[in-house]
Amino acid sequence: MLEKIKQTVAYIKTKVTIEPEFGIILGTGLGGLVKEIKNQQCLEYKNIPNFPISTVEGHSGRLIFGELGGKPVVAMQGRFHFYEGYDMKQVTFPVRVMKFLGIKHLFVSNASGGVNPDFEIGDLMIINDHINLLPNPLLGPNNNELGPRFPDMHKAYDKELIALSKKVASDNGISVKEGCYVGTTGPTFETPKEYQYFRIIGGDAVGMSTVPEVIVARHMNLPVFAISIITDLGVPGKIVEVSHEEVQKVGNMAEQKMTLIMKHMLEQL
Ligand code: HPA
Repeated sequence: MLEKIKQTVAYIKTKVTIEPEFGIILGTGLGGLVKEIKNQQCLEYKNIPNFPISTVEGHSGRLIFGELGGKPVVAMQGRFHFYEGYDMKQVTFPVRVMKFLGIKHLFVSNASGGVNPDFEIGDLMIINDHINLLPNPLLGPNNNELGPRFPDMHKAYDKELIALSKKVASDNGISVKEGCYVGTTGPTFETPKEYQYFRIIGGDAVGMSTVPEVIVARHMNLPVFAISIITDLGVPGKIVEVSHEEVQKVGNMAEQKMTLIMKHMLEQL
């Protein structure tokens, strides 16, 4: 895998002059942050050696290099999901590449279903922990050059970045929730009892992404900040019918708040 990572990084460096310090993964309906990136240099996934190709509706599949909040960034517009049929090494490959491009922090966003009864549709949830119900992306032989065999996960989400995000949110009059994200394979949304189960085991929200990328980032000791937009609720009495279109619509509505938080965080880092 190391060879493939190096090959991909070498290709990117022939095409792009920006040296990113921050990696950003944009979730469903959250691609609008891209408009804020200045001096863009873009690469289509389909042209990047060893990159899988994004298939899901609402994801366009580009790496966007540029400046956000005055910092050099690389943003993934469109991510790879396990439910699309990629294996976990493919799902997380771009995180390896971003690390080898030199990023020092990873910012991740997603859309999720809230299972905490205090949540409302459109809320932002800062992720402070996760429960992984997907196959672990580190299964198989370990490459010690990438990270340890048994990576620690008790500090998966960087406490200083969480504190900064809350300060930035309150400085800008944005209210945020905080909680634990349960990562599932999808592609089905949950039954009422499944939502209830995720609440009982300690979850605040459930979604089909993020956890694999966070595990791989932490394997390489990359600090992570992650934020979730609650696009639907799996709370008894509040359960709504959910569709991919609805998830995209609510995502689009909340993305300005999320973009503002990330941008101001970057300015202060
Ligand atoms: N469940 C799983 N994934 C999701 C949901 C949900 O309710 N909403 C957005 N992504």
